[in-house]
Amino acid sequence: MAGNLNLAVLISGRGSNLKALIQACKNPDFPARIDIVVSSRADASGLRHASEAGLEHAVVARGLYSDREAFERALNNALRERQINLICLAGFMHILSRDFIAAWEGRIINIHPSLLPRHKGLDPHASVLESADTKSGCTVHLVTPEMDAGPVIVQREVPVYEDDTRQTLAARVLEQEHIAYPEAVRRIAGGGIKPHDLLDANSRSDYN
Ligand code: GRF
Repeated sequence: MAGNLNLAVLISGRGSNLKALIQACKNPDFPARIDIVVSSRADASGLRHASEAGLEHAVVARGLYSDREAFERALNNALRERQINLICLAGFMHILSRDFIAAWEGRIINIHPSLLPRHKGLDPHASVLESADTKSGCTVHLVTPEMDAGPVIVQREVPVYEDDTRQTLAARVLEQEHIAYPEAVRRIAGGGIKPHDLLDANSRSDYN
């Protein structure tokens, strides 16, 4: 998949990672462009970053579909004609089905605000503080059917301080997310990370 990448960025909310990717794409050396932004909520404030940047954007509102299958069919309709190389989940608050992931195998990445495999799932910052970890961070990883378990592409660390709250920790991690996401796209585009090789290694390790 190396070379200049055509991205679809999927959001559900604030869109600060989308904004970081938009900024990165403004650099003429950055090996990707955003072809479309899709939001699963009509009221996602992140959509404003897409319109301000003049990017094509669409709303595929999860609430309008009775089940995940219908929602994913609509998502696929928004994406499939567009020569998308890589789908970037950026605060996209829905778990994708095995079938959807298989249809885009090796072409969906996600950002998660912890050092995976630690603290998968919702509210990782609370879980970090409860565990008294001394470091946290963020992970960009390939999406596989098991949530937050796909091969790691980029991680960035931050310290955790004794007086941290979820908010202070989240803010420190978010700064690193905005560096990590463009970095992950750059590594894939540059060929340094080959998603299908990572997936092969991942499934091989299932048998070891
Ligand atoms: C980020 O912390 C991301 O890691 C998580 O959801 C949050 C989305 O933030 N998956 P934003 O919408 O990109 O500002």
